[in-house]
Amino acid sequence: MSTDNLQELIAGIDRGRLPRHVAIIMDGNGRWAKKRGMERSAGHVEGVNTVRRITEIASELGVGYLTLYAFSTENWNRPQAEVDALMHLIVVAIERETPDLIKNNVRLTMIGDLDRLTDEARERLKRCMDDTAHCTGLTLVLALSYSSRWEITRAAREIAREVLAGHLSPQEITDDTISTHLTTAAIPDPDLLIRTGGDMRISNFLLWQVAYAEIYVTPTYWPDFDKTDFCRAVAEYQRRERRFGLTSEQVK
Ligand code: IPE
Ligand code: IPE
Ligand code: MG
Repeated sequence: MSTDNLQELIAGIDRGRLPRHVAIIMDGNGRWAKKRGMERSAGHVEGVNTVRRITEIASELGVGYLTLYAFSTENWNRPQAEVDALMHLIVVAIERETPDLIKNNVRLTMIGDLDRLTDEARERLKRCMDDTAHCTGLTLVLALSYSSRWEITRAAREIAREVLAGHLSPQEITDDTISTHLTTAAIPDPDLLIRTGGDMRISNFLLWQVAYAEIYVTPTYWPDFDKTDFCRAVAEYQRRERRFGLTSEQVK
């Protein structure tokens, strides 16, 4: 990565039109490792460094929310050794990175099924969230044991219970009712969705929330994704015309 190139890219970004929320499907760790004749877990280890870099640049630019898809509901079905290695890595990384998060004024939150995590993972996460709760800069949202269908199903159950209890009538259910029952209730919808690793799919990530997100797919594997790549995605986002169903003339 050339520093000059990065500085130029940063200078070219319009700070007044930043995506408020960037969500990333961090994919390609396994392929990155395989290409080098290494174990898949080596790709996950390297991927943690990318998380640090990208959190830094998002924070530097002034992005409000960065959501990272770290582990999906479906990922529980991977070989047990890989699941264990990933969980361990996440727990260790969170503990190690907490002081820097605080220093950089980054608040950590998480979305996903906390109940499926080990007690240790849950406690470490909770501690990091508590320790960074006062931070007012970037909000880093970790999607862990998360899938959109899990989340929507859970919301449907909760809404059904409220209807049964007589607190809500079916006619009163709006877009907003659904949004506020999702785990992302306190988070604006993503403006920019990035997927590394080249696959053109959503893989059960924020299905409801990405309704009008700009999608950016790069073939770069997650461990190779750097600050320049992130800025390129933001620059591309700023060249797009977001119409939200309207005509070009209407949004001009
Ligand atoms: C993404 O990398 C990380 C997780 C899904 C946890 P992968 O492990 O999916 O890497 P590829 O897609 O097999 O290369
Ligand atoms: C998506 O990657 C999930 C995460 C990045 C955590 P996967 O590697 O699990 O997605 P698929 O299986 O290629 O769709
Ligand atoms: Mg993958």
